Amino acid sequence: MNELLIRGRVLTFVAEPQGIDDTASYRYLEDGAVFVRNGKIVETGSYGDIRKLAGANVEVVDHRPNLILPGFIDTHLHFPQTQAIASYGAQLLEWLNTYIFVEEQKFARAAHAAEVADRFMDELLSNGTTTAVAYCSVHPESVDAYFVAAEARGMRMIGGKVMMDRNAPEALRDTPQQGYDETNRLIEKWHGRGRAHYAISPRFAITSTPEQMEMSQALVAEHPTCYVQTHLSENRDEVAFATSLYPEAKDYTDIYARYDLLNERMLLGHSIHLSDREVSVFAETGAVGVFCPTSNLFLGSGLFDAARFDKFGARWSVATDVGGGTSFSMLETMDEAYKVLHLQGQRLTPFNSFYRMTRGNALALGLEHQIGSLQAGADADIVVLDSGAKSAMEFRMRTATSLAEELFILQTMGDDRCIAEVYVAGKAMKTKDRKRQATAP
Ligand code: GUN
Ligand code: ZN
Repeated sequence: MNELLIRGRVLTFVAEPQGIDDTASYRYLEDGAVFVRNGKIVETGSYGDIRKLAGANVEVVDHRPNLILPGFIDTHLHFPQTQAIASYGAQLLEWLNTYIFVEEQKFARAAHAAEVADRFMDELLSNGTTTAVAYCSVHPESVDAYFVAAEARGMRMIGGKVMMDRNAPEALRDTPQQGYDETNRLIEKWHGRGRAHYAISPRFAITSTPEQMEMSQALVAEHPTCYVQTHLSENRDEVAFATSLYPEAKDYTDIYARYDLLNERMLLGHSIHLSDREVSVFAETGAVGVFCPTSNLFLGSGLFDAARFDKFGARWSVATDVGGGTSFSMLETMDEAYKVLHLQGQRLTPFNSFYRMTRGNALALGLEHQIGSLQAGADADIVVLDSGAKSAMEFRMRTATSLAEELFILQTMGDDRCIAEVYVAGKAMKTKDRKRQATAP
């Protein structure tokens, strides 16, 4: 039996915060502890209570005065774009053609995919992200590399092979039948193996013919426990091009709706330039709009309207969208999210930001019983945050008087340097890294 008691200031959410004073939405324990057994959380509570429960012989890791939270969750990014972050000067369609479709061709080589997959997973963990939903490249080998790297670290990861059969270089195109067959084989191989989940991934309407959309429709119908992911209404030129390719559709959202792709396991990246009708379709179907603030600013795409999603009762999540996104850090992502909403006269409270990165994103994935909280029975995926990791933060923290203020400083000034430790299924990953480095020749 593998037991561990993790001690520190503990914060976990139980509901969506309704304002900066909504103390009922979270549990905060000044001297708290999380008791972990065999990769799962047995109980979370005050150190005194948990110590009694765990017994005198349990191993204790004392993280005081650091903050202990559920590991962060990233609901949209591209693993083959890890080395294409910071590609200069273009908006979406030009950026895809100039940089991304060139970069993704490298993933025909399995050795390259394996090398990048390892770096990708390590980058997520060093930023405190323990679960992510990623696009792989069109090559099935890239999906193998992705899940092998996740499995080696014990991470709960979601991903899938991009399907695209037009408007991309020939080396990156599959066919409707090939996309269907390869996706089927990959689902059989990976979906439900250990902590892996598969996401059926038609890239977007521009790169899929109606025939490929029909194949996606079949895949979604045949695999109701798989996720589905695509891109929607990120950029105005993209919207015009996509709707011109599907003239029978009412609007961009209707392209996907006509192929029955919209359901509560569907993640639609960006979802910016939408009509009220389209947002109401999100609400009716339970589909999730994915807010990718660093990407939307970097590619000059537009501003996600979270208040409108809320008004219609539609679901939304947050994500980095690396490599359109400029950082793997969910802290930096929420910093930009705050600014994007602020520009539109909307407020994202510090509690809401931390809720979104954890329980909110878990709910968007229907995984709230496994991840995104520190409740008994959940997976022990945990992040430990140091609010004084940078000297400017440490200096600023001297004047902070509340938890809300501390969280806002973490999100506004923080990055991977604030990740003091990250646990995946109860295993400390940073300490392990340090040991690995220490024994290297
Ligand atoms: N739309 C279609 N593919 C992509 C991609 O790789 N990144 C972004 N940001 N948008 C897309
Ligand atoms: Zn994307």
